[in-house]
Amino acid sequence: LGGNLLLDDRKTICEILCNGLARQEYRGYDSAGIGIDGDKPGEMLFFKEVGKVAGLRKRIAESNVDTTKTFLSQVSIAHTRWATHGPPSIVNCHPLKSDPKAEFAVVHNGIVTNAAALRLVLQKRGYVFESETDTEAVAILTKYIYDSQPDKRMNFTELIKTVLKELEGSFAFVFKSSHYPNEVVTARRGSPLLIGVKTEKKLKVDFVDVEFAGPEGETKSMDALAPTSPGGLLAPPSAPNLLRTQSRAFMSEDGMPQPIEFFVASDASAIIEHTKRVLYLEDDDIAHIAEGELHIHRLRRNEDGTPQTVQHRTIETLELEIAEIMKGKFDHFMQKEVYEQPESVVNTMRGRVNFDRNVITLGGLRAYLPIIRRGRRIVFCACGTSYHSAIATRAIFEELTEIPVSVELASDFLDRKTPIFRDDVCVFVSQSGETADTILALRYCLERGALCVGVVNTVGSTISRETHCGVHINAGPEIGVASTKAYTSQYIALIMIALQLSEDRISLSERRTQIIEGMHALPSQIKKVLEGDKGLQALANGVLANQRSLLIMGRGYQYATCLEGALKIKEISYMHSEGILAGELKHGPLALIDENMPVIIIMTRDSLYPKVQSAFSQITARKAQPIVVCTEDDDSIPKGCKTIRVPKTVDCLQGLLNIIPLQLLSYHLAVRNGFDVDFPRNLAKSVTTE
Ligand code: F6R
Repeated sequence: LGGNLLLDDRKTICEILCNGLARQEYRGYDSAGIGIDGDKPGEMLFFKEVGKVAGLRKRIAESNVDTTKTFLSQVSIAHTRWATHGPPSIVNCHPLKSDPKAEFAVVHNGIVTNAAALRLVLQKRGYVFESETDTEAVAILTKYIYDSQPDKRMNFTELIKTVLKELEGSFAFVFKSSHYPNEVVTARRGSPLLIGVKTEKKLKVDFVDVEFAGPEGETKSMDALAPTSPGGLLAPPSAPNLLRTQSRAFMSEDGMPQPIEFFVASDASAIIEHTKRVLYLEDDDIAHIAEGELHIHRLRRNEDGTPQTVQHRTIETLELEIAEIMKGKFDHFMQKEVYEQPESVVNTMRGRVNFDRNVITLGGLRAYLPIIRRGRRIVFCACGTSYHSAIATRAIFEELTEIPVSVELASDFLDRKTPIFRDDVCVFVSQSGETADTILALRYCLERGALCVGVVNTVGSTISRETHCGVHINAGPEIGVASTKAYTSQYIALIMIALQLSEDRISLSERRTQIIEGMHALPSQIKKVLEGDKGLQALANGVLANQRSLLIMGRGYQYATCLEGALKIKEISYMHSEGILAGELKHGPLALIDENMPVIIIMTRDSLYPKVQSAFSQITARKAQPIVVCTEDDDSIPKGCKTIRVPKTVDCLQGLLNIIPLQLLSYHLAVRNGFDVDFPRNLAKSVTTE
């Protein structure tokens, strides 16, 4: 997080930074820090604390810094960390500085993979490192390059561009420097970054293009507000020697220069309370912000050495509302998100399902349907919960489309260098749209010419931008680290895709109608499941309290429910839990069963019910006392068995209802143990590193 803010006192600036960090805390929360302007020109002040942003606020409040000092224009940077290099500690906390005087300070999201080599080179040249982070190597490298120029004539952008050319790995950076007061340089490659623009008055956009040929041929800039002007982008280069385009804007309607603030952040939730107007940076963009102007430059040249042409950028207006990222009456975001599911599934279907005519319309896919139908196979690629949503819907995809489907964990898919062909259709499922493994898998498939489809929650995210086409699941912001409503919305979105792909199959029309009718009833059925919350809390505080392990078994459509339920339980309650395919029981897991092993068995009615009943008999014969997830009116469950009863829906939708009690159970187990439900240890919401 960083920004160029105007006319604020230091207290307000710190609050803006801490509030922004708190909203991004789900991305990482083992330490937090800010770097702000000091009292003297060029001086920087740092506040850092291990743990969550609340600790940082306290540290700032307890310091004797003059909070009343006001600034006409200033630059601040801030960061909340999820440790990759070096444990959480004050020295490893960002912002990292280049030297004790902090000539350069930087915050970083991502991993610089050649940091160790850089560190060695810089240490040999006498530079001293304090931290174990990869980021410090970047700060010191910046100072080294700055120090090495005899005339110190490089501007801030040129300097950072030179630094970035030395780096390998992934990054989103914000740089601040005492040599370039009131200027910010920010850049991304592989990690998300956006710039929010805030100004009070309505803007008249006014361009003055300046052409000149300089030694740095590859830069191009364009005005932040260009897309709001007639014609959108600045004029494309008229001749190859148009090496840089400068633009001036930000005049108010009365022609007076307009106060303007810029906010740089990894995601929109950090800045939504200040502005809804954002510009998403692309990989290899470098943005320079100073004196009310924003210029975007490109880091790379084309393969033939020519400068890259101006790429299209738009200022988008976010639809996110501040209330959506607040907890409201709930104790935790996860709880709120579980309870939001009756609405979030409706939002996924809204405007896309015509329940009167049983028609699905996914606008983002329409033009690509013929290509998908001709595809030789469909390959789903995802991680964690998103992977489970693909497992959950694989069978219905195969049934409705009759196209072979494989489901891949993105990391393993890449490790295996899986063969991918031009006639493959690859579907990338991701809540954040920023998961590094999934993005790498996407780029791998793009290079091989496959059609790439995104199923993403976060609008404007890397996956939603880099795929050829796709579907936004519209579940709304998900803040709790444990994914809940995104799972159910991904699940429905995938089923909608399968339904749309099969719209021309007369032989399937009855099945399709059955599923669409089932979807119509889902919101009220989810509400009914949520009414069982007290019973689930009692299980968490009763038979499941103080257990070390929990097995969850089922088969067919419910295998995904077992995997997802077990993931929820382990990630927030830290209890070992394993999802087991009931068909595999005799091939190993049965050995775990005795009277002490807690088991949940999913036995809702579908065509596999007799087979699950047989698994039930096998485990009860070994003295297990399973908790049974069953259809609400099922009277064949032996008396004395603890049950979790859910409404009945169509087989392929049943997992949507069955997962909800397991989400709630994991929640209550975590709360009971006093764990931080929304911020489980060692995890981050958005895993932007491999
Ligand atoms: C678990 C969870 C993770 C994510 C995984 C992929 O509750 O949230 O397993 O599902 O990290 O993240 P996305 O969906 O953002 O790609």
